[in-house]
Order: sequence, then C-alpha cells, then structure tokens
Amino acid sequence: MSDIPFSNPGWAGNTGEFDLTEKEVRGDDFVGDRPKDGGHPSGAGTMPYMLVDKDPDAPLFEGEYRQRFEKILTRYPDKRAALLPVLSLAQELRGHVSAESMDEVAGLLELSPAYVRGVTTFYTMYNKRAVGRYLVQVCTNISCNLCGADEVLQAFLRYTDAEMGETSKDGNFTVIEAECLAACGFPTCVQINSRYYENVTPADVAQIIEHLKPEGES
Ligand code: FES
Repeated sequence: MSDIPFSNPGWAGNTGEFDLTEKEVRGDDFVGDRPKDGGHPSGAGTMPYMLVDKDPDAPLFEGEYRQRFEKILTRYPDKRAALLPVLSLAQELRGHVSAESMDEVAGLLELSPAYVRGVTTFYTMYNKRAVGRYLVQVCTNISCNLCGADEVLQAFLRYTDAEMGETSKDGNFTVIEAECLAACGFPTCVQINSRYYENVTPADVAQIIEHLKPEGES
C-alpha cells in the first residue's frame, strides 16, 4: 500500500510540506497489515483497526487473538476497564460487533449484556452490522463540507456503486458519512478502514477506488 500511484499518499503526515515516508510516520508496526500479535505491547488492542479480510464467524478469541486478549487484561485493574479495547479486538477480527458478539464479550469480561450493549452502541467506531472489505467514511462536517465534502461523498457512492450506508454488490465497499475526523486542516478527509486520506477531491476518487479493488476486478 505504500506505493500509491496518485498524489494523495493515504496516510496522515505527508501533506506536501514534509517529505516523510509512511514508515517514518507510522513506524514499522503500522506499515502494511498490523501484525496479528498486536505488534508493540501497547498496541495489543487499543486502536480500532480494520482488517480487509474479516471473519464474522471467527471465535472470540483463539490463538494470537487469545494472546492479545490476555495481554489487554493485564493492562487494566479489572475486566470492566478492558471493555473498549476488547470490543475493538472483536471488531478487528469479525469486522463488526453484532449483538451476539456483544453478549460474548459480556461473558468474557463477566459484565451484563445490557452494560456491554450500552457502551457499544454509544460509540460510532463500532460497526453494529457487517460492512464491506473497505469501510469508506467521508467527513461531511463543517471544514470538509465547506471544501466540497458532499461532492466527494457522491463520487464515492457513484464509483463504488453503493447506496449510502449499504455495502456494494461486490462486497468491497460500504460508504458512510462521518462526523469530524480531526483532520480539519486537510479537507476533505476520508477514512478507509484504518487509513486516512486527506485533501481528497472528487477527481481523486476513481483512482482511490481502483487502487483498493482486489486484483482482477475493475
Ligand atoms: S471537519 Fe472534516 S476532519 Fe474535521
């Protein structure tokens, strides 16, 4: 993903003022796919991270994911405090946090299902239903909106052939509007899975989509 053949490199850091590589900005752990073991210990489950290939039926948690789950628990005084990173881990693995996943997490952390549902539904970064391989979140808040975010959003809908909030027929893309993504200086900001694309214009959208499509699809 680092050799992106268009002007927007797709990650925060190189906005034209600085000539930094992705590796210099993110560090080794965050170039390409995040290591399944969580990489640096502090990264075991603290950041929502969306894998391209999700497995909605994957068990919570086995193998490397069990190790990361255990690692997360060691960082908090009690299980309840680990809820957010554990939900993030479940979403990384399954792609979304269904009602069943919420109940499973409640069981793992010895919390009531109602408490876990209340927390999960409060945060928009937890997908409550399945999304495509790529979740495209277009910021349409004030700074981006003033700079043409609506046109960018329409371009993503057009090029992915998806309805707003729905997944495209090929399963590749789900396009939604997002509130401020905290990159107001680089409008329009678009988050695709865990990656930020800044200064996006409608003219960039076709190339971004083509770059993301699996090889052989067009
Ligand atoms: S308004 Fe779009 S990132 Fe803040």
